[in-house]
Order: sequence, then C-alpha cells, then structure tokens
Amino acid sequence: MSERLDTSLAEPLGVYVHWPFCLSICPYCDFNVHVFKNVDQDSWLKAYAAEIQHLGHLTDYAHPVTSVFFGGGTPSLVRPDILEGVLNEITSVWGLSPNAEITLEANPVGLDRPLLVDLKTAGITRFSMGVQSLDDAALSFLGRTHNAADAIAAFALARDVFDYASLDMIYARPDQTVDAWTAELTTALALAPDHLSAYQLTIEQGTNFGKLYQAGRLTLPEEDVQIGLYDVTQSLCHDAGLAAYEVSNHARSGHESRHNIQCWQGSPYIGIGPGAHGRVDVEGQRHASIGIKQPAAWLASASNLSVGHGLASLERLSKEEVFEERMMFGLRLVEGVSLSNITENAELPVGALDLVKINFLVSAGLLEDRQDRLVATRSGRLVLDRLVAELLLA
Ligand SMILES: C[S@@+](CC[C@H](N)C(=O)[O-])C[C@H]1O[C@@H](n2cnc3c(N)ncnc32)[C@H](O)[C@@H]1O
Ligand code: SF4
Repeated sequence: MSERLDTSLAEPLGVYVHWPFCLSICPYCDFNVHVFKNVDQDSWLKAYAAEIQHLGHLTDYAHPVTSVFFGGGTPSLVRPDILEGVLNEITSVWGLSPNAEITLEANPVGLDRPLLVDLKTAGITRFSMGVQSLDDAALSFLGRTHNAADAIAAFALARDVFDYASLDMIYARPDQTVDAWTAELTTALALAPDHLSAYQLTIEQGTNFGKLYQAGRLTLPEEDVQIGLYDVTQSLCHDAGLAAYEVSNHARSGHESRHNIQCWQGSPYIGIGPGAHGRVDVEGQRHASIGIKQPAAWLASASNLSVGHGLASLERLSKEEVFEERMMFGLRLVEGVSLSNITENAELPVGALDLVKINFLVSAGLLEDRQDRLVATRSGRLVLDRLVAELLLA
C-alpha cells in the first residue's frame, strides 16, 4: 500500500464504498444488492478510482481520511488487490490516517484462511461478518446459504486473523422466544466478538418477506415479546462486556465502530459506488450526494471519461435539514446529542429547540435532559423513530 500520512490530530473524515453484489439475495434485505455474476472487478476498480478523483476535486478537505467502510452487498467477494487499489486511490487523493479504521462487510460463505490473510494484508483492520442466526432452521428461513456450524467456523478463523472482528445478528424473528434467543445470543457472545450488531428483523416493502407479510403469511412477535427480546439483548451483551453504544450496536470499550459514530455525530463522509449516500462539504456548505442506484448504469457513467463519476444527485442541505439529521442520528447514540454542539454546527440558536416539547418528552420518561446533552431513555429508544418525529414536528 502507499505510505500513509501521520496526522494524529486529523478531523474525522469517512469514505463509504458500496459493493452491490452478493452470491444470493436474502428475502428480508432491501439494500442495493444484485446477484454476483459476470462482474469484471478490474473495471470496477477503474470506476471507483474515477469517482474518488472526482469527489477529491469537488470537496474541500485538506485532511486525511480517518475511516473507510467497504459495505454492501458482500464486499468479501471483492478481490483483495482491488480493495488495495481503492485504498491507494483514497490515499493519493486525501491521504489516509495511519490509524484509520478500515472495515469490510463479509458473508461466512467462501472465507478461508489464505483469503482472510490477503484481506488483512490489503489493509482491512475491521472485519464485520453477517452471521444473522445460530439456529439452522432460522438460517434457512432467512434464506442464508450457510448453517450455524459454517458461520461459527468462519467467525473463529476471522477472529484468529483480525485484531478486530464484529458480527451481525437478526432477532425478533417470527415465533422467536426470549429463551431461544437467550441461548442463541449466548453462543454468539462466546465467539468473543469485539463488536456485535443485533438488529430486530425489519419487514421492508418490495422484499420477499414484505410480500409474505402483506399476504398475512409472516407475522412478527407481539410488542411485549419484542421488548423482552430487546431487554435480554441489552443485558446479555452488557454482561459479556459489550455495552450498547447505539440502539443496535454493542462493543467492547474502545471498539465502537468509529466510522458509524462519525456519521451519526454529523462528521462528513464521502459516498462512492452505486446508490451510495454521502454528506460532503462543497464550498463550505454541507451537501447530500447519492450515487446512481443501478450498478450497470453507475459503472457506465463513472467509466465514461467525459463524465468520470456516477453521482445521481448532489444537493445542498439547509441548516434545518442538517440540524434534523444530527438530532435523528445523535439520539440513536447512548451518549445522546450535545445541544450546543448541534445548534452551533447548524448555526441555529439554542432557542430553535422547542423546550416545551423537550420538557414534555422528559416528563413522559422518553428523554433525559443532562445539562447540555439530550439522551433517549430505554423507553425512548424503544420508540425512537416516533420520538424523533415528535421532537422535530414544527
Ligand atoms: C451488508 S449486510 C452484512 C454482510 C453480508 N452481506 C451478509 O449478510 O452476510 C448488513 C447487515 O444488515 C442487516 N440487515 C439487512 N436487512 C435487514 C432487515 N430487513 N432486518 C434486520 N437486519 C437486516 C443484517 O444483519 C446484515 O448483516
Ligand atoms: S443480508 Fe447481506 S448477503 Fe443477504 S442480500 Fe443483504 S447484503 Fe446480501
């Protein structure tokens, strides 16, 4: 890899690189994903490099990147030399902080020790694997092509090769009991992850699960069971030394995902690839960027020398929009949001916050007002989307 700059005082700057391919598509997933077939990875590297160059010219940053997140899709299908090529391009445009966090999302299928070692050599520092469940029947229901033993073996290998290994689980599945989830999560925690994302199954419109749900052929656990599942997730993770730092994310102290925290705290991140979102500063103004969603169309646009990028839109955000986003994402964090910080960054007076509403939500036990910080309580986190909507309602 190219030499990295030594910038220990670097401001946070993230890069998200979207890889839109998976070996097969899971019935619950509505990410921008397509089946991995006839993909010319060298062309993808050229297109990523062109878009990185384009965003380098467009944005204002004179400081290096502090985190890179290869997300998907299944970026563990990307050849290590291609990942290294992308990192070299990022280094040549912005520089890469020497202790940058470089995450790769992975599927257990197709992983072996030589590949994992090559991924580490290419520069990956944080390996994040989609395990989803450790129950074979549930894995089959979730459309996964691996069983529990495969996932456990793949994670043990990753755990051995990488200093930082994370795993994803999906709970609150149909008919799941608190006892069954307790056993499953206990097994997952025994794999000694540094970080664990536990997502409640969300039914997304347009997915196979969405269709089954609409036809009444798939039902989620009742609300009281969901709350029981959430509570046991918090306590088991906490007892295993992986405290929650966000609604669905738990980590050993010091192993929180820096990339995600930066995004949730409102730091800039550059989005590369099909459908990738970014929040970037152009001429001192925060902008939202979105890549062309369709992979072939994005690839054609970014590979076209007279275009050189696959951005579908780049729009300036108003002060109110910046403020709303910071509130929405900040309240997901256990540390909450600093009011003076977000009002100052959005250049809004502190008075822009509706104190009557805040006081009402505090008295309802959904928010805590800790001097300058606004923090969602346990009850607030259970209804976070509704809480934020209420808070931001003019
Ligand atoms: C890009 S995937 C992770 C890596 C890899 N693609 C895999 O699935 O093995 C991101 C994660 O989002 C979560 N996820 C996706 N769709 C979800 C849904 N509808 N409900 C809950 N979690 C979901 C899964 O836990 C998944 O691991
Ligand atoms: S969950 Fe992961 S493997 Fe499954 S379709 Fe979504 S991105 Fe692909």
